[in-house]
Amino acid sequence: MTIDALRAAFSRPGTVAVEAGRNGMPRFVLTHSSGSRVEVYLHGAHVVSWRGAAGNERLFLSERSQFQATRPIRGGIPIVFPQFGGGPLPPHGFARTSPWQAHAARVTPDGETELVLQLRDAGTTLELWPHPFLLTFTIRLGTALTLALDLHNRGSGHVRFQAALHTYFAIADIRQATVSGLKAVTRVDTLRENAREKEERETVGFAGETDLIYAGAPDRLTIRDPAAARTFTIAKSGMPDVVVWNPWIEKARRMPDFGDDEYARMLCVETGIIDAPMLLAPDQTWRGITRFEAEP
Ligand code: BG6
Repeated sequence: MTIDALRAAFSRPGTVAVEAGRNGMPRFVLTHSSGSRVEVYLHGAHVVSWRGAAGNERLFLSERSQFQATRPIRGGIPIVFPQFGGGPLPPHGFARTSPWQAHAARVTPDGETELVLQLRDAGTTLELWPHPFLLTFTIRLGTALTLALDLHNRGSGHVRFQAALHTYFAIADIRQATVSGLKAVTRVDTLRENAREKEERETVGFAGETDLIYAGAPDRLTIRDPAAARTFTIAKSGMPDVVVWNPWIEKARRMPDFGDDEYARMLCVETGIIDAPMLLAPDQTWRGITRFEAEP
């Protein structure tokens, strides 16, 4: 659909706008009566910005992000599906590099601004992953940001999949930032040959490259960013696992679409089905929801 056609079908006065984003790629801008604002690209159904009422940006987006149809956007909230990390498919799957379709836009009965995007199997996905599916991403903006992923198995066999919201939080100083709520959770350290051990820390801090999978994490976590005097709260359901990732200095230098110093201003806390794939029976739907709050 052209940007004009998207605008005609999905813009809603005062709440949903459609515009040409970077490199002319279609971008939706959602606003809420509280003053909060979200920007999302159809490319990857990728949320790239979430601002509070005061205009304060809460998501990290790399200055080197390329905004090309064949590449994932670096920052914001990439959607990981149907594979987490490396494997037979492209890294983190194909959802983040796929062209999604707009499905619906409305103001909900409780006054939140909602946009629904969908991705379904097509020749390109079936070549990579031979399963008919419908993936629905619902973005709901109020004072909080609520994101829901629904996977419907349209095929006649079971599907095995992983899925995650790979959220890049904007952080003023990673060296002072902490994540709490993970104590006693089984932690898989991908930088130490996937060593599985119990997290002993009350709060997880950062002083080097970090790439940890928390299997079966509690549904409520807190990120504190004292340098910005900001707290993020993450509340999830249907998404058992969490990844905490920061590339630090050396890995940042190796990433072509990420600035050398940007590691100090971001932290990924990802929610989803990550540690072990989920098996979904024919005609069944899986739903995972993550709700983000930030103060300020
Ligand atoms: C994280 C992984 O989820 O994503 C890391 O745990 C990975 O290992 C990171 O480096 C970024 O992945 P990508 O494919 O976006 O460069």
